[in-house]
Amino acid sequence: MLTEMHRFDLNAIGPDFIENPHPTLHWLRQHSPVHRNADGSVYLTRHDDVLKVYQSRDMLSDKKVEFGKKFGQCPLQKHHTTSLIFNDPPYHTVVRKLISGAFTPRKLAIFEPLIDRIVDRLLDRVEDMGELDLIEDFAKILPTEIISFMLGIPEEHRARLRGYSLAILGALDPVVPPERLEAGNRAVEEFGAILDDLINRRRANPDGAHEGEVLEALIFGEHEGRRLTQEELIQNCIFLLNAGHETTTSFVGNSMGLLFDNPDQHRLLRDDPDLIVTAVEEFLRVESPLQIGNRLAGEDIRLATETLPKGTYIHTSIAAANRDPAVFPDPDRMDITRKPNRQIAFITGIHVCLGATLARVEGRIAIGKLVRRFPKIRANGPRTRVPLARFRGYATLPVSVT
Ligand code: HEM
Repeated sequence: MLTEMHRFDLNAIGPDFIENPHPTLHWLRQHSPVHRNADGSVYLTRHDDVLKVYQSRDMLSDKKVEFGKKFGQCPLQKHHTTSLIFNDPPYHTVVRKLISGAFTPRKLAIFEPLIDRIVDRLLDRVEDMGELDLIEDFAKILPTEIISFMLGIPEEHRARLRGYSLAILGALDPVVPPERLEAGNRAVEEFGAILDDLINRRRANPDGAHEGEVLEALIFGEHEGRRLTQEELIQNCIFLLNAGHETTTSFVGNSMGLLFDNPDQHRLLRDDPDLIVTAVEEFLRVESPLQIGNRLAGEDIRLATETLPKGTYIHTSIAAANRDPAVFPDPDRMDITRKPNRQIAFITGIHVCLGATLARVEGRIAIGKLVRRFPKIRANGPRTRVPLARFRGYATLPVSVT
């Protein structure tokens, strides 16, 4: 076991790690917290090291070199190198400022009643169905509806969004088979064409925004005299759709899976619905929807046990940091009353998740209402995981509500 673990390589992980990464992460955090992969990159598993990386302005997100090697010239490369998440200032600042303008508390206030309405409508359907797949029939519809509304995506395109999203994000996993690359490229092209058309129509109709429409802010907004080009708009809208719904789908699915596995905590939440506020933080900690991040060291960085030289490629384990016993007593135990809870599912620093507030609101409403309205909700058969290491979620989660 020991030698086997010493040879662990993030770039050669298999289905066991994807199914349950935590035994490996515990071992790494304890015995090899700055773990070297064969390609010279490091994998960090301690909370304080991961935090330090995210808080440092010298750690870079630009992935042009890395994605150039990984993808070559193709739509996936164009997409991932243009979205704000894989860029540094000044381009990152421009896009972030424009998107932030669309995520102000005033704009988010518009979305809360909308989320309430969508959840109620979906739960009426859930009740009629009795037995269902919680992912397909509930978790993935909510964020798709919200993001589509924010960007003004017409009804007829919405059903395809999760497929696009999984195909595009799936290409970011450490190990990517050729058929996944192909699907990812196709998804960027098809999705890009839909957005190109949508943006052109919105340009031609500048006063036609729905309430709170994000697309309007992105097309017509300016930061220090700079507007986004058509290509930048398309790729950042694709990113926004992906960022906003894959993670939220997993968030809702993972949370319900955790409640099914921890009936005492399920009961506690049912008996005291106000606990939903601390419960969502705990769900995000125990099963973080985004598990791995990356940065390139633009300068030397001093960690708890060693200094990494400039040029080191860093993988951060958000999942391991969120179960670090140095920060979270009894870290594998799910405790929906846990406080304080310094979970970092949304990370911190200049790339801190722009949708964190929205995601928390979606989670509180969706999970809170599911638990309250269906006191008998339970797992109803085997579940399957999305086969990715970076994103943790269920592909299927059969449930019964009666
Ligand atoms: C539970 C749900 C979510 C989780 C766990 C999550 C997690 C994250 C994480 C970890 C990052 C930083 C990645 C990095 O820089 O390495 C991030 C960035 C981002 N997220 Fe989220 N996210 C969630 C939901 C959302 C939603 C609902 C939206 C928008 C509708 C959103 C929009 C963004 C954007 C725009 C960024 C890029 C920020 C930047 O690079 O400055 N996210 N998210």
